[in-house]
Amino acid sequence: MPLELPAHGRPWPELRDEMAAMRGNDLDWKHGRHGAYVWYASDELEDVLREAFGMFLVENGLGMRAFPSIARMENETLAMVRSLLHGDDETAGIFTSGGTESIFLGVLAMREWARHERPGIVRPEIVAPHSAHPALNKAAHLQGLTVRRVPVGPDFRADPAALEAAVNQNTIGMYASAPTYSLGMVDPIEALGPIAERHGLWLHVDACVGGILSPFVRDSGYAVPAFDFAIPGVSSISADLHKSGFAAKPASTVSFRTRELREFARYTFDDWPSGVYSSLTFTGTRPGGAIAAAWAAMNFLGQEGYREIAAASMRAKQKTIDGLAAIEGVKVHGAPPLYAFSWAASGVDMGAVAGAMARRGFMCGQTTSPAGIHFMATPVHEAAADAYAAAAAESIAEARSSGAVGKAAAYN
Ligand SMILES: Cc1ncc(COP(=O)(O)O)c(C=O)c1O
Repeated sequence: MPLELPAHGRPWPELRDEMAAMRGNDLDWKHGRHGAYVWYASDELEDVLREAFGMFLVENGLGMRAFPSIARMENETLAMVRSLLHGDDETAGIFTSGGTESIFLGVLAMREWARHERPGIVRPEIVAPHSAHPALNKAAHLQGLTVRRVPVGPDFRADPAALEAAVNQNTIGMYASAPTYSLGMVDPIEALGPIAERHGLWLHVDACVGGILSPFVRDSGYAVPAFDFAIPGVSSISADLHKSGFAAKPASTVSFRTRELREFARYTFDDWPSGVYSSLTFTGTRPGGAIAAAWAAMNFLGQEGYREIAAASMRAKQKTIDGLAAIEGVKVHGAPPLYAFSWAASGVDMGAVAGAMARRGFMCGQTTSPAGIHFMATPVHEAAADAYAAAAAESIAEARSSGAVGKAAAYN
């Protein structure tokens, strides 16, 4: 490994070959050997993303005066997301670098709004189900807020009564998911909206995984609980373009019910030698390519393309579940309505099963409560479903006969 910048540059073809070789031990995501990390639909879409990203590789999303092209693509992308989330003319969004930044900005706006609306609160708290993504705690940690996590209900969804019971005089907001990362549950946002309204709370919906594609899952005939701005009481929604929007990383959105609410995410500063700095994002310089690729993905796919991806993802999920169901003692946790789910086998350590799956080329994330293996179905997982089920059957048998205990669950 070279430890310092080489004295002389090397030719690109040589570097390209070296980089291609480095990929040799990477996960085979094109053939559905991954349970997370990659949202890939087709070579055709990959080409569009690469070309669109490349076209705007150098442009900077910080400088909208210089790049009206980026400003236009950003505004149009946010408008498309707004319509998917049942927003209206008042709804206003921010294009961000990912779910974590979107959640950070949702929490920032929540905090600043509460300072304005309820200035008496000095130790603000957010109530959330135990299933919330750690990005919530990261955002709260960085911004001096406390998160109170409460147990989920027997269906693994947020328990509205338990959340309401956790509300106290310091609570400024509630948080729920559509769906949760671990078990793929869509929390009962319809029951949480009225609670938020009753207690004067901000309600953030983390639809990082479901925001873009679930309308098309619904169109394909599946029942998906409502979770967006159609529900009164929802203040902000994070929805990732680089997940179920099948855009290039880094790309996500956070949308606010009104332009006024979005203003609470703005940071303004002018005590330095270059005038007013006013920003709605955490990042300063932003990749123009990511905005261009997201715009291109949405216009290339259109509703028809997303409907096809949704249908293929749901077929992949069902085929994977059918294959797993044929193995003795295997069950899916709860009734996940979208493409994410978790499964477990009885009488065996699921860490050991995950380890055995990895030795068979399938990288699996684990869940802890309850113990299981996480799966995020995308179109490529349909063709991989039989091989996945065969690997699962062998892995379970191996783990059962050895009685081994595998590694503890880790998210990344
Ligand atoms: C439900 C949920 N929220 C937030 C995030 C964080 O998103 P990112 O990794 O893009 O920052 C994830 C990532 O998987 C997620 O699944």
